[in-house]
Amino acid sequence: MIREFGRDPCVNLQYLANHYGHISKTPGPLGYYLLNNPDYIEYVLKVNYKNYIKTDLAYQGIRAVLGNNLLTNPDYDSWLLERKLLQPLFHHHHLSQYAAFIIEQTQLLCQRWHILAAQQQAINLMPEMFNLLFNILTKTIFCGNFTEYASDFLDFIDLGNSYIGKALFLYSWLPTPHTIRFKKAKKNTHQIIANLLEERRQQSNKQTNVDLISVLINAQQHTGSVLSNEYLIDEIKTFIVTGTETTGTALAWLWYCLATNPDANDSLQQELIKSLGGKIPNTMDLEKLTYTKMVFEETLRLYPPLWLISRRSLAEDHLGNYAVPAKKTIVISPYVIQRHPEYWQAPNHFNPLNFSEENKKNRIKYTYLPFGLGPRTCIGSVFATFEAQLIIPIIAQQFDFKLLADKPIELAPLITLRPKGGIWMKLKSRKL
Ligand code: HEM
Repeated sequence: MIREFGRDPCVNLQYLANHYGHISKTPGPLGYYLLNNPDYIEYVLKVNYKNYIKTDLAYQGIRAVLGNNLLTNPDYDSWLLERKLLQPLFHHHHLSQYAAFIIEQTQLLCQRWHILAAQQQAINLMPEMFNLLFNILTKTIFCGNFTEYASDFLDFIDLGNSYIGKALFLYSWLPTPHTIRFKKAKKNTHQIIANLLEERRQQSNKQTNVDLISVLINAQQHTGSVLSNEYLIDEIKTFIVTGTETTGTALAWLWYCLATNPDANDSLQQELIKSLGGKIPNTMDLEKLTYTKMVFEETLRLYPPLWLISRRSLAEDHLGNYAVPAKKTIVISPYVIQRHPEYWQAPNHFNPLNFSEENKKNRIKYTYLPFGLGPRTCIGSVFATFEAQLIIPIIAQQFDFKLLADKPIELAPLITLRPKGGIWMKLKSRKL
């Protein structure tokens, strides 16, 4: 079962959900409980979350790559302090300040793409979107310019994603060429961040903008040795990885969904013509761009970047009539529940209207959770949605995409739900 789970995990989880109902348990010493009932999901992630913590095998793997930080911290009290420290960076008033950088970076990408379109060159949307998101993140949440290190971090993310798979199957200690490359990339990004931190400390009296690095340095200075340098480096690395990989993967899938669903693409174009008429959107335009937001939400339904959320039970508990022993792995899959025929009509079909006000009102709660649920919900969800709402209209007004593959792209579910082999497209510049 474990091997099968590893080979085609999304299909296997869907099989379990469809054949064994709202809760299923796989056999064997590493057996896990899969939840497909929104009440159980709410209970584990939101109601009794203190009993379900991030010490399961998957989080051990993520910790091996990213260290201890806001995402991986299993201890509630210290996690809460971290969350309160960092949450203000994602408040609404910061977002409007970030808009100019998001627009600038997306326009730079479009300028480069117009040249590639004229040369009829194909592009792989995965690295393209990662680079864009990396450049935006480093200029907003990090207020700095370390664009030159994009490829170092993207290498680290790529290698880290598959290293976690090895960590899960307990053979990460083998000195394979991949493991050696991963460890080198980890050391390299560690050093880049350490240098950046040192530079920032030296300039701290000149720095006027508040960003993640200044908040962390400030907190370190006020708590003395409580926050170690290692902790700061791991926290920064985690934000680079989560802020780049998740939104980047989602946007790559989004262009795939639009290229393969011409009706939805037409509806998007109609909204953009009506609301923007070719101009670059600003923050005031966003509330008019309702279909644009629905396209993003629907992409996250079909291709949730974090397709698996896992926890480990501390004490024995009950989910409905089912007993859950202590020290068991609980698995909740946004991918499975968001495509479950019991909760969604035509669940595998791309239909942004699933997110119309009317349909949202009628939806069963907790059957859509691309950003998680409860206190450990994504800290970057509003930021990611804001980025997408600006990036989508800028790109969609300037380009048509033609998918190179002649069959549906397969899934490569690692920690994030990646497309196997990337998403290769031909670009065509649109006449505005
Ligand atoms: C489409 C984009 C994104 C998706 C789908 C996504 C998804 C998620 C999910 C499902 C979780 C909860 C994990 C769990 O409960 O085990 C999470 C947590 C987290 N995300 Fe995101 N995320 C996205 C964007 C971002 C961005 C842009 C950032 C940062 C700039 C970010 C930073 C984090 C962090 C730090 C946590 C841990 C929060 C905590 O435990 O307090 N994410 N994300």
